Amino acid sequence: MASWLLKGLILVIVGCLLPALFVESRIRHYKFNVVQKNHTRLCSTKSIVTINGKFPGPTLVAREDDTVVVKVVNHVKYNLTIHWHGIRQIRTGWSDGPSYITQCPIQPGQTFTYNFTLTGQRGTLWYHAHILWLRATVHGAIVILPKLGVPYPFPKPHKEVVVVLGEWWKSDVEAVINEALKSGLAPNVSDAHTINGYPGPVKNCNSQELFNLQVRPGKRYMLRIANAALNEELFFKIAGHQLTVVEVDATYVKPFKTDTIVISPGQTTNVILETDKLAGKYLVVVSPFMEAPIAVDNATGLATIHYATTSNTSTSLSTTLTAPPPINATQISDNFTNSLKALNSNKFPALVPQKVDHSLFFAVGLGINPCSTCVNGSRIVAAINNVSFVLPKISLLQAHYFNINGVFTPDFPANPPTPFNYTGNQVTNPATTTGTRVYRLPYNATVQLVLQDTAMLTPENHPFHLHGFNFFVIGRGVGNYDPKKDPKRFNLVDPVERNTVGVPSGGWTAIRFRADNPGVWFLHCHLEIHTTWGLKMAFLVDNGNGPNESIMPPPMDFPKC
Ligand code: C2O
Repeated sequence: MASWLLKGLILVIVGCLLPALFVESRIRHYKFNVVQKNHTRLCSTKSIVTINGKFPGPTLVAREDDTVVVKVVNHVKYNLTIHWHGIRQIRTGWSDGPSYITQCPIQPGQTFTYNFTLTGQRGTLWYHAHILWLRATVHGAIVILPKLGVPYPFPKPHKEVVVVLGEWWKSDVEAVINEALKSGLAPNVSDAHTINGYPGPVKNCNSQELFNLQVRPGKRYMLRIANAALNEELFFKIAGHQLTVVEVDATYVKPFKTDTIVISPGQTTNVILETDKLAGKYLVVVSPFMEAPIAVDNATGLATIHYATTSNTSTSLSTTLTAPPPINATQISDNFTNSLKALNSNKFPALVPQKVDHSLFFAVGLGINPCSTCVNGSRIVAAINNVSFVLPKISLLQAHYFNINGVFTPDFPANPPTPFNYTGNQVTNPATTTGTRVYRLPYNATVQLVLQDTAMLTPENHPFHLHGFNFFVIGRGVGNYDPKKDPKRFNLVDPVERNTVGVPSGGWTAIRFRADNPGVWFLHCHLEIHTTWGLKMAFLVDNGNGPNESIMPPPMDFPKC
């Protein structure tokens, strides 16, 4: 009798466990309570907007093919949306998150549940608020593990560590941007760079504000690094160690070694750190990269790597130091960028569009528009093809889906209205037009987009992010793009695939993508001040044939404007 019971019990247990072992995809539920919370940084306390009281916010962990369901409850005084940066949102644009592009904001006291499936993606991405400047403190990492049983295309790391880089202002961030908009001038730069929320040791301050990673010798650690800074491209470096880059923006790359990585706001980079020292403490430095004569936050963010060894007299150990690269170290940046190539293996092929249906040329840069209430009678703006984008009052995606007229026009210019010597010194009229104009694409069209920086006011690096797609970075150069010569040098074999790319200061970048995701997709510079100034536009991708190529209906609890 007892053995019969036991057998039954075993059968039941096995019956319950087996499906769990074999069912690969599942639903991951998260709850984000967005709340004000006091945090002490740089030795003073201020109230910031956070997710669940944390800065950075909690890490989302899921597997390729999982569905992620995040219930966001807005307990703060600001309108709010969350964007899942780099998640493709195939047919689920409703959950993409840019305010007034795909959704109306979640108003104070309201709730919205984002719901999306992780199709064909694995790696590190991140999420952030996509309204006002709230993303300064409302952000966190997304870790997408490969499907069960599928290994990484590199030796399995001993441990994985999320490293989120950020910027910290002593004053309230919304006050900083409001002040700038009122004056028409550039905003105050931040006061510190943070590594997992901490700036490093603060002079004459007793509080512990240092991120310290404990490691064991002879192991491989994978650092999942995300740049969540608002306005600064960053260098990242560890004293005495080389880093092997294995992935960027959740796509695998051909591994290469470097001692410095360059990472733009919006980008993510996975590196392998081999702990090939026996003992000691090593400094981690994070510093800005800026080629133009533009004010940046010069403070170096510091963290430490600490080898845990048995004979540990930890605090007395001295730290091996390293200096950050010079702020304008273009060569270091170029070396890094030019080393990035898609892995392009049998399992992870680079599906670069070989023919182009829509060839676009976007001149991107700054401008000056009149403003009678501003300090100089004018304000700094930014524009693509001379259009400084104006956010509508209801979202573009709703206007498109429900055929609401008068919200946008589908006439975004494919080329600059008047071509000029983009990177020369010649002075042209810096005034821009304003408008809510989109570029319309049929389903599955292939697009080549050349992003050309202009020297208007000043040349500057622009990290461009495209929502809803990954793209291939097929070329890059200094000066003006030459449509005759430059395409001959395009890499159409193994170009790096990503969602955010730096347009070099005074140069250009060419990308290609396939418009296989119906909806409305934001394209913008991920320097938050440039987005605010209008350096943004949207693509409208039509439905294809049948339900599998069409936008899903909006969720029941979709926020109203
Ligand atoms: Cu990471 Cu439209 O943003």
